[in-house]
Amino acid sequence: MPDLAGRRFDLARRHEFRVLAAAKPSLPVLLTAGRLAGSLRRVPRIGWVTTDPVVARRILNDPAHFTLLGEGGVGHMWAQVLGDWVNDIFDGPGHHQLRSRTRDLFTDDSARELNNRVVGPRLAQAGAELRAGRAVDIADLARVLVGRIVADLLQLRVADHDDAYREIFGTGEELAALALGTTTSTHLAPETVARAKAIVARLTVNVAEAWRTAPPETVLGRCRDLGLEQRQAEGLATLLMVAGTETAASAMARTVAILHDTGAQHRLRADPALLPDAVREGLRVTSPAPVIGRAVSADVAVESRHLRAGERVLMLTWTANNAAGPFDLDRGYLPDQRQLWFGAGRHLCLGAPVARAEITGMLQTLLDTGRAWRIGRRGYRRKVLIPSYAYLPLRLSHH
Ligand code: HEM
Repeated sequence: MPDLAGRRFDLARRHEFRVLAAAKPSLPVLLTAGRLAGSLRRVPRIGWVTTDPVVARRILNDPAHFTLLGEGGVGHMWAQVLGDWVNDIFDGPGHHQLRSRTRDLFTDDSARELNNRVVGPRLAQAGAELRAGRAVDIADLARVLVGRIVADLLQLRVADHDDAYREIFGTGEELAALALGTTTSTHLAPETVARAKAIVARLTVNVAEAWRTAPPETVLGRCRDLGLEQRQAEGLATLLMVAGTETAASAMARTVAILHDTGAQHRLRADPALLPDAVREGLRVTSPAPVIGRAVSADVAVESRHLRAGERVLMLTWTANNAAGPFDLDRGYLPDQRQLWFGAGRHLCLGAPVARAEITGMLQTLLDTGRAWRIGRRGYRRKVLIPSYAYLPLRLSHH
C-alpha cells in the first residue's frame, strides 16, 4: 500500500489528468504518450514532435528557421482574423521593436502593484468570506480576478461587479476557442474568421478613446507612443486578452488545488518564504499552455533530423516540464526547463510577471487567513483550449 505522501501525489495527479481530459479527451494521451517521441520525432498528421526541454528551447530560440506565422503557428491564425499587419508585429521587424520597447512594461514590482491595485480589494473580500466560514469557488474567483486585470490592461470600462468581469473572461475565452481544432491546421473557415472579427470588435469597442487619452504608463498609452496605429493597438490589446485570460486563471485554481491535494499547503503555511517556489512549481506542473507550435520556415537539421520548410513542430512543453517529477516545494530551479511554461526566446510570455503576481496574490490571500483549506466537490471545464477547473469550492478548516 502506498504511503500517505504517495497517495497524496496520486490524488493531485488524478485531478490534473481529469482537468486535461475534460479540456480535450485526447490531451492526456498526447501529453503522456508524447514522452515516447523523445528528443524529436515525426508523427503522422501532426508533424515533428519534441518533449525535450532543451530541444524545445533550441527551436524557440531559432527564429531564422522557425516561425509562428506559418501554417501551424498562432500568428498564421491571427493574421486571418486581424489582418496581414499581424505578420510584422508577430514575427517581423515590428515584433522586435515592440518587444524591446515593452521590455519593462511588466516587471515583478510593477505587476505586483498592478495586482494589488486592481484585484487587491476583491481578494480581501474573498478572504473575509472564507474567514466568516463561507465557501469560495476559487475557479470562479480566478476568472473574476483575471477579468479585472484584463479590463484594466485594455482600459475597458464596465460596471464594477463580478458578472461584468465574468463576461470579459468569457469573451476572451470565446475568442481563444477559435483556436480549438487548430492542432492539425491553422487555416480558418470564412465563417470562423467572421465570428472572430465580430468578437474582436466587441472587445475593442472602447480602445479607440482609451487610445487617445490613456497615459503613457498604460499598455495602450505605451503602444501609442511607440507609433503603432490604432488598429494595431486594437490587435495587440486583443492578443493580451487572449494570451493572458484562461492561462492565468487556470494556473491560479490548479495551484491552489495541487497545494491541497499534495498536502504541501501545510508546509507552505509553516514556511511562507516558500511562496515563490509554490508559484514556480504550480506553473511547471500545470503548464497551462501545454503545447507550443511552430512552422519550419527554412530547411534545418535538429538532433540529426532534417526538417523541411513548410513542416510543423509541436513542442509538448507540459510533458517536458513534468518529466522533472511531481509538485515539490523543494525542487528548486531546473536549468533544463527554466521557465518553459512561459515559452522561450523572442516570444517568451510578455505577461509572465503579471501571471506570477496573480498566482502569488491568490495564494497570499489563503495564507493570510492563517488556516488550512479543504476543497469540496470540484468540476473540470469541458472542451476548452486551456485545461482548467469549472468550479473548485474551498473552505477553511477549523484548525
Ligand atoms: C500562467 C499564465 C500564462 C502562461 C502559462 C503563459 C504562457 C505563454 C507562452 C507559452 C507564450 C509563448 C507562446 C509561443 O511562443 O508561441 C506566451 C506568450 C505571450 N503571453 Fe503569456 N502566459 C500566461 C499569462 C499571460 C498574461 C497574464 C499575459 C498578459 C498580461 C500574457 C501575454 C502574452 C503575450 C502578449 C504573449 C506573446 C508574446 C510574443 O509573441 O512576443 N500571458 N505566453
